[in-house]
Amino acid sequence: MIKKIDDMFFLEGKNFSYVMRVSREGFLLHDYIGEKIAPVPYPEDSRGWWCVQTEDADGVCLDELRQEYPGYGHTDLRRPAVSCGPAGLALKYAGHKITDGKPPLPGLPSALGDGAETLTVTLRDKDAKVRAELNYTVYDSYGVLCRSAVITNEGDGSVTLDRAYSASVELPRLGLSEMHLHGSWGRERHIAENRLVPGVYDISNARGGSGHQINPFVIVKDSLATEDSGFCLGIMPVYSGNHSTEIEVDQRGRTRINSGINPFMFEKTLAPGESFTTPECLLAAADGLGELSRTFHDFIRERICRGKFARAERPILINNWEATYMDFDEEKLLSIASLAKELGIELFVLDDGWFGKRNNDRCSLGDWVVNLEKLPSGIGGLAEKVNSLGLKFGLWFEPEMVSPDSDLYRAHPDWAVSSGIRAPGLARSQLVLDLTRGEVQDYVINAVNSVLDSANIEYVKWDMNRYVTDMPRKGFNHEYTLGYYRIMSAITDAHPNILFEGCSAGGGRFDAGVLCYMPQIWTSDDTDPMERVYIQYGTSLAYPPSTMGSHVTDGPNQYTRRPVSMNTRGDVALSGNFGYELDITKLPESDLRAIKDQTALCRELRTTVEYGDFYRLSDPFKCNVGGWMSVAKDKSKAYVTFTKMLFEPNSANVQIRLKGLDPSAPYTDRLTGRTYMGDMLMNRGISVQFPHGDFATASMWLIRSK
Ligand code: DGJ
Repeated sequence: MIKKIDDMFFLEGKNFSYVMRVSREGFLLHDYIGEKIAPVPYPEDSRGWWCVQTEDADGVCLDELRQEYPGYGHTDLRRPAVSCGPAGLALKYAGHKITDGKPPLPGLPSALGDGAETLTVTLRDKDAKVRAELNYTVYDSYGVLCRSAVITNEGDGSVTLDRAYSASVELPRLGLSEMHLHGSWGRERHIAENRLVPGVYDISNARGGSGHQINPFVIVKDSLATEDSGFCLGIMPVYSGNHSTEIEVDQRGRTRINSGINPFMFEKTLAPGESFTTPECLLAAADGLGELSRTFHDFIRERICRGKFARAERPILINNWEATYMDFDEEKLLSIASLAKELGIELFVLDDGWFGKRNNDRCSLGDWVVNLEKLPSGIGGLAEKVNSLGLKFGLWFEPEMVSPDSDLYRAHPDWAVSSGIRAPGLARSQLVLDLTRGEVQDYVINAVNSVLDSANIEYVKWDMNRYVTDMPRKGFNHEYTLGYYRIMSAITDAHPNILFEGCSAGGGRFDAGVLCYMPQIWTSDDTDPMERVYIQYGTSLAYPPSTMGSHVTDGPNQYTRRPVSMNTRGDVALSGNFGYELDITKLPESDLRAIKDQTALCRELRTTVEYGDFYRLSDPFKCNVGGWMSVAKDKSKAYVTFTKMLFEPNSANVQIRLKGLDPSAPYTDRLTGRTYMGDMLMNRGISVQFPHGDFATASMWLIRSK
């Protein structure tokens, strides 16, 4: 619901209100975001007493006003949402319209618009000759507000934007903290929390993709807010390139948040009449972190992810990477696939090493032609053989890259990204293709499409294993990201029956932009379940389990050398899109029996895990136990997992309260046969019985018995 009453705009989503007003001087001001309030106008009360400030000719000090899309340099000297040089912008209200649905953002991924309503407010700076159209989209059924901006040069000369954030919000509250997801390869999306005091915080990444280091998701919350209550505002740019969420707490304690493209190394010159469209940014306000996450989870599953797999049960897969690396032949792959079928696995994925002469990672990226020495019947023949075993077939690509030792590079050395002043840096012996160029995009689209059209491929893993360095100009990264999006949409639109999974050296590009094309992403190369408890717990702040690839791998783990039981490996992996990545042909009989049980259990519970409501129960960053549960939307089922990191001698059994169940219903735990009442599980809680030893899990598969 969107209403304009007098000088105020009231926007309402499922569980929140967003209020703006046009000030008496004509500026568009932010007034409120939070729990629903009635759309009834109220007087402006946001201005305080101030001195030592600067006023414009009308006596206005913009530094004093909570603007919806602030500029810098005139009478506001805080960090702006938009800027085109030192003279700055001072944008005033010039009109608005309300439309059904949602305008598409050309060349950019954005949320689906069914069931939405959009307010577009036009702002204009008549002196700078710049117009900004701000889009605000709300949905009756979702607690998310989508924002974007279109900036147009209305003058006769060129205008160079040096920042163009998607959204800006100003909170007048004190006592706020910010939370964000940080990490590295193998340690993605750990949670950081900082008290906000006056100063500027830039939660950003400038490594080419959205990055392992800082995820494009930030929460600004009351410092005392918990999982279950307290003001929490989530901010998520729908963007896979260099991003930034900039928070400025000013001299009077007010908090301005700008979010979108990272202005560092960004620039866009607009010719007269030309426009620039920012990526979309999602905002959600909720009571408690748990509700905030569930709000984003529902929205991501239903309005960001799309296509036939967005709401489908995801197949249980086996990937050959950690089983064979690049040392395989058809016989080896088929031996894994045939045993996989017996164990209840549904999809066989052939990872890196199937093309060119790729027997190591120093060559062949770019040459997407099958290696017939390894696979004499080609990809088509292998797919047929895998299919005849009763499994689907999937294939790995890394199409954004080129190896210097490749036919592609020898033919087009200028297609690699280069600053032009020195040889570009190598990572994993590879260079990045310049996706800003149309002919390079076309090459990638044709090369991938021709493999996909040559065989019965039902799944693709789209990898990207290095940062983008040596960028030749400011603004390059945004152009690269637009090139990546053009490629993704051309390939995924042409193949609606293929399930695509994103990957970037594990979870280095895990964001809502990617999820508009690929409904699941490889969460991390680190599959040690103890590490995964942190990674999956942190990832769940923003993203639902249906987006997280989660596999059982070898024990001891190949990266951490930590020996963890098959049971624990299975329990943790079952909380995402389940699969395996190890040489099952070398496992003892007891592990094979465990895998059969795990795949059978996965088939029972995956709809609940992938599409239920997710509740965090115990924070592994704060104590020795990580705990979470997924509850079916109708509360009829729930899968609960607790993981104890290290065994503690002589400790009491922890008693943990479950969430989200039907209080008046009995639930039977299928794994033990025990029955409990929902209200008892949620109020008293249960004493979790862990097996003796380190790295132990305890799970419950609760089925409502009436
Ligand atoms: C990095 C990915 O994260 C791995 O799963 C695997 O696909 C390798 N790349 C292959 O090179």
